[in-house]
Amino acid sequence: MGKTRQRRVRQHVNPFHFVREVVPPDWRAVFPRPDQPLEVDVGCGNGEYLLARAAALPDRNHVGLEIRPVLVERLQARLARDGITNAAVVLCNANASFDALFAPGSLARVAVHFPDPWFKARHHKRRLVNPAFVDALARALAPGGLFDFMTDFAAYAEGVVAALEVHPAFENPHGPGAPAPAEPERLLSHRERAHLAKGDAVHRWAWRRR
Ligand SMILES: C[S@@+](CC[C@H](N)C(=O)[O-])C[C@H]1O[C@@H](n2cnc3c(N)ncnc32)[C@H](O)[C@@H]1O
Repeated sequence: MGKTRQRRVRQHVNPFHFVREVVPPDWRAVFPRPDQPLEVDVGCGNGEYLLARAAALPDRNHVGLEIRPVLVERLQARLARDGITNAAVVLCNANASFDALFAPGSLARVAVHFPDPWFKARHHKRRLVNPAFVDALARALAPGGLFDFMTDFAAYAEGVVAALEVHPAFENPHGPGAPAPAEPERLLSHRERAHLAKGDAVHRWAWRRR
């Protein structure tokens, strides 16, 4: 019997090298219950959190955005195999496609968990959460919608906190400048689970769309 070769998953994809055209799906046709609140997991990776959220919250629809094709193909196969109809995944560079994918005020929640840190100063422009992305979040989130952010990298958190705390469209539900508590019952992403196992510090923040 021949061996099934696993396709290599690249560690990082430079978003500036992502050249595929993304045709925004008609979300009303994608989900059997299109009127349910819509959540997005940006940079969903292997989809662990997306799948857990979709199972825990069947009265919501869930979209994962991911730039690595192999992960998207695997997740799409998993959704089809398991008959999961309240979740979908889109292969895209979220920085380039977020506005086109989601109508203004259409999202109940957006999660960005452990975005690639791009440590070197000359690579900071590749970071997912930048001023343009924060403005796109402000447009797409419905009033009261939540932006849920986590990183293990303190310097990344500092930049995001600085931008969100002064952004006129957002308020911090935990009080000005306050991090979000680690809810004991929360669902874990793949990366959060790994960081907790290693004892790493995790920086958790949340902001609500005014
Ligand atoms: C460190 S992983 C974290 C995965 C997952 N959120 C977790 O917490 O386990 C960051 C993910 O974001 C994806 N990513 C990075 N830049 C992206 C972009 N511009 N658009 C979409 N996905 C992106 C990466 O391919 C990777 O899967």
